[in-house]
Amino acid sequence: MRLAGKRVLITGTAGGQGEAAQEAFAREGARVIGCDIQPGAAERTAKVLRDKGFDVTGDTVDLGDADAAGNWIEESAERLGGLDVLYNNAAGFGFAPFEDMTLDLWRHVLHVELDIVFHTTQPAWKHLARSGHGSIINTASMSGIRGIAPLGQAAHAAAKGGVIALTKTLAAEGAEAGIRANAISPGFVKTPATDAAVGDELRAFQLGMHLIRRPGLGSDIAPLAVYLASDESSWVTGQNFSVDGGVSAGFR
Ligand SMILES: NC(=O)c1ccc[n+]([C@@H]2O[C@H](COP(=O)([O-])OP(=O)(O)OC[C@H]3O[C@@H](n4cnc5c(N)ncnc54)[C@H](O)[C@@H]3O)[C@@H](O)[C@H]2O)c1
Repeated sequence: MRLAGKRVLITGTAGGQGEAAQEAFAREGARVIGCDIQPGAAERTAKVLRDKGFDVTGDTVDLGDADAAGNWIEESAERLGGLDVLYNNAAGFGFAPFEDMTLDLWRHVLHVELDIVFHTTQPAWKHLARSGHGSIINTASMSGIRGIAPLGQAAHAAAKGGVIALTKTLAAEGAEAGIRANAISPGFVKTPATDAAVGDELRAFQLGMHLIRRPGLGSDIAPLAVYLASDESSWVTGQNFSVDGGVSAGFR
């Protein structure tokens, strides 16, 4: 029980990495509230775990709406009696080659990938400080550390690079209050979203970049998130960890 009694919020728990993390955290003894923009979806994944006896609930929230995000943080902290861990996993997406990128798409992607991290983290900050050992886990991406031409990732890369830079500053500003902040940068992960949005050709291209030629799974990412949430990582802050089949390391 590496997270026994930890009060945890995880965003984007309808499926993919957020759902996998929710289960891994619950199995380690955390009390978890998840959320997702897809109506009823976070409630559904939480109920599966609650039926197995875990302390997990889920809410429908659009974190792109700053007020809704703030209300969710406040209500959740009240329900849990405080907050120890905020795992900012949720993100929308949008891709276009830079030549064709409109200002609207650029702003949209920064909103749904970077602004939403601010929308949750800012109101959560005081609760994490009160905990005395708060941990923020942000999901960035290999695209935040590596330029990749064929997928039209300029806005996505800028947003995820922003998440990595923000994480370091949160670590610096949070240290005195005992708040740690770290980022996880996944490579290509098989999720409901990538199953729907990535065709065969793009999938083959993506996998061809990875040293380990299989897509990642939510269960490849969740163990690192558990570690970063736990007191085992109490001397670890301001870092960006790649869990990416080696894509950030080299090619073959
Ligand atoms: N799948 C990949 O290949 C990959 C690679 C690198 C980074 N990531 C990042 O990993 C994280 C998790 O994504 P995933 O891979 O599990 O894919 P996913 O799209 O299945 O999960 C993201 C979840 O966030 C939810 N969400 C999106 N916008 C939201 C909002 N405004 N409010 C509330 N919920 C919202 C979605 O509905 C979805 O359930 C994301 O931050 C994503 O950018 C994914």
